[in-house]
Amino acid sequence: MDFVRELGADIVIDYRSQDFEQLLSGYDLVLDSLGGENLEKSLRVLKPGGKAIGIAGPPDPAFAREAGLNPVLRLAISGLSAGIRRQARKLGVSYQFLFMRASGDQLRQITALIDDGALRPVVGRVFPFGQTVEALEGLEKGGIRGKAVVSNP
Ligand SMILES: NC(=O)c1ccc[n+]([C@@H]2O[C@H](COP(=O)([O-])OP(=O)(O)OC[C@H]3O[C@@H](n4cnc5c(N)ncnc54)[C@H](OP(=O)(O)O)[C@@H]3O)[C@@H](O)[C@H]2O)c1
Repeated sequence: MDFVRELGADIVIDYRSQDFEQLLSGYDLVLDSLGGENLEKSLRVLKPGGKAIGIAGPPDPAFAREAGLNPVLRLAISGLSAGIRRQARKLGVSYQFLFMRASGDQLRQITALIDDGALRPVVGRVFPFGQTVEALEGLEKGGIRGKAVVSNP
């Protein structure tokens, strides 16, 4: 808990023993990396006009449009998020799917934030390139606090 507070968190919730929906309310923005029930709960801790941005899905119509999909696929993709968008509308909030893309420009901006001390990356463990499999297994098992870095000297 102290570790997370050191990173700048005002409120720390342990998802294994606490339910964030029971403890939080009135937020402008939620970043959801789990989807499913977690995303539904995320909608309910927002204030009216708030937004939940999800990376685990479901994809939304804007994503289908920007991906340049044909109308049939667009309709199918829109259908995947119809339920969560309906729930969001009823609560007076919104849902947006975020699909990450590799971007040198964004990495340069992040590098500047790190150089200025506004962001502090936390490296949990460094693996030599030859142990890439172990690095991935380590991520799956959990227990690495911070990023697992594969180094290629
Ligand atoms: N849209 C995109 O462009 C994009 C890009 C990358 C990934 N994704 C998707 O995003 C999702 C997350 O990816 P990831 O690589 O971050 O996964 P990950 O490495 O498996 O990390 C999941 C994290 O969620 C935590 N967690 C598990 N259950 C939780 C709960 N109930 N409440 C709060 N936290 C919980 C885990 O904590 P512990 O350490 O305690 O297990 C872990 O830190 C995946 O569905 C992936 O497919 C989407």
